[in-house]
Amino acid sequence: MNLFARKSIDELRADAFQEGEHTLKRSLTATNLVMLGIGAIIGAGIFVLTGTAAAKFAGPAVVLSFMLAGLGCLFAGLCYAEFAAMIPIAGSAYTYGYATLGELIAWIIGWDLILEYLFGAATVAVGWSGYFVAFLEELGFPLSKGWTQAPLNVVGSHTLVQNPGGIINLPAVILVLLMTALLVVGISESAKFNNVIVFVKGAIVLLVIGFGFKYVNTANWHPFIPKNTGEFGHYGVSGVVRAAAVVFFAYIGFDAVSTAAQEAKNPQRDMPIGMLGSLAICTVLYILMALVMTGMVPYTQLDVPHPVFVAINAAGPALKWLTYLINIGAIAGLASVVLVMLMGQPRIFYSMSRDGLLPAVFGKVHPRFRTPYITTIVTGVVAALVAGFFPIGLLGELVSIGTLLAFVIVCGGVIYLRRADPHRERPFRTPMVPLVPILGILTCGYMMSALPGDTWLRLVVWMALGLAIYFLYSKNHSVLQRGGDYKPPEPTAAPR
Ligand code: ALA
Repeated sequence: MNLFARKSIDELRADAFQEGEHTLKRSLTATNLVMLGIGAIIGAGIFVLTGTAAAKFAGPAVVLSFMLAGLGCLFAGLCYAEFAAMIPIAGSAYTYGYATLGELIAWIIGWDLILEYLFGAATVAVGWSGYFVAFLEELGFPLSKGWTQAPLNVVGSHTLVQNPGGIINLPAVILVLLMTALLVVGISESAKFNNVIVFVKGAIVLLVIGFGFKYVNTANWHPFIPKNTGEFGHYGVSGVVRAAAVVFFAYIGFDAVSTAAQEAKNPQRDMPIGMLGSLAICTVLYILMALVMTGMVPYTQLDVPHPVFVAINAAGPALKWLTYLINIGAIAGLASVVLVMLMGQPRIFYSMSRDGLLPAVFGKVHPRFRTPYITTIVTGVVAALVAGFFPIGLLGELVSIGTLLAFVIVCGGVIYLRRADPHRERPFRTPMVPLVPILGILTCGYMMSALPGDTWLRLVVWMALGLAIYFLYSKNHSVLQRGGDYKPPEPTAAPR
């Protein structure tokens, strides 16, 4: 038994390029992939968290926080791109870990990615529900409070208590189930739906930037970095870093593109384009959005659940029309984040199951839809339950810490594989190795360190649970451990 047994990249690649009805369908173009990236990126982060980050931690310098978080993601994205082009398989960071650092670490990454995708989808669904319910209320259709709130709530320093008024967050549950149904029916159908939404939210973000800039009062940008209050993270330079850890959430999702590697028409060329293209576009949009928001109103007014609305509303009647569109942009935008996160998770489970680390039933591909339908349904149902019963405060930071950990491991993997297998063909090469991966590890590690202690504790508990499952089940069923060599199992096709 070798816990650090690695999968051969050649066999992984052979598996990735298999054809037939039991395989995923290759239909995504480079544009689809960039759109999927933007679909997953622009969401609750920019529409909700920017305000808190500016008001509580960084002031107008939240713009710098966006730059710092974007830089960390760029370093990680460049490392992801090298792997995604070299091993274009649905398992994303989990598979890269399997090919470089061995089975145990791969399992740890796979288990960790559940925090990013499954919990990420649930978190954003709760954010979506907040916007949706407020929007319906504005239109004169108030929903009963009990059915729009989770029965659990977080108070003080992340203590979970009962929320007496809440039964279930039904809108969040319904959204997750609808997106799940779409994903079962087909990847191209899902990509088309995503394209429409990205177009809507992209247009609205551009309108906010374009019209908002005219109403910026530059006095609001002074002082750009408010003086530290004496406490770490409350303004000043430490505040910028703390805010970067908060707004990092806004960038999560570009890596979800890599989970669609087996559905891309030309993954070796298009994976890097999809990930880095969407990341670059969103970084520019975020920096401009942050400048507009902090320029339109004093940053102290932004600590609200709908800061973009508050900023634009401050312009008065001239931009009233835009305030209506902002709600639509947020509702559409958050829905596509949920969609792409729910797309990522099953594809990782799919790869884990084909390696024997999860039961074989998870590897089933629907013979007509050519989607991993069992894992999609399982993911959807679990995410719906999480979204229905847990509050957003508890989930968000867990998603960020899980994602940052995956980024750190992927950056480390690039350095390792460059040494262990230097001559392998790399359709995309991370520039300046080992500098870029090291900077990725340092920036992401630094952002992790800025997250609260309880979030770390929850990460440790989650990982301990994952290790228990690995040692009790996965290691004994691992295809690699049992056969010595990696042989992809023939998945059973479902009856027509
Ligand atoms: N980046 C995604 C969002 O901000 C997760 O909603």
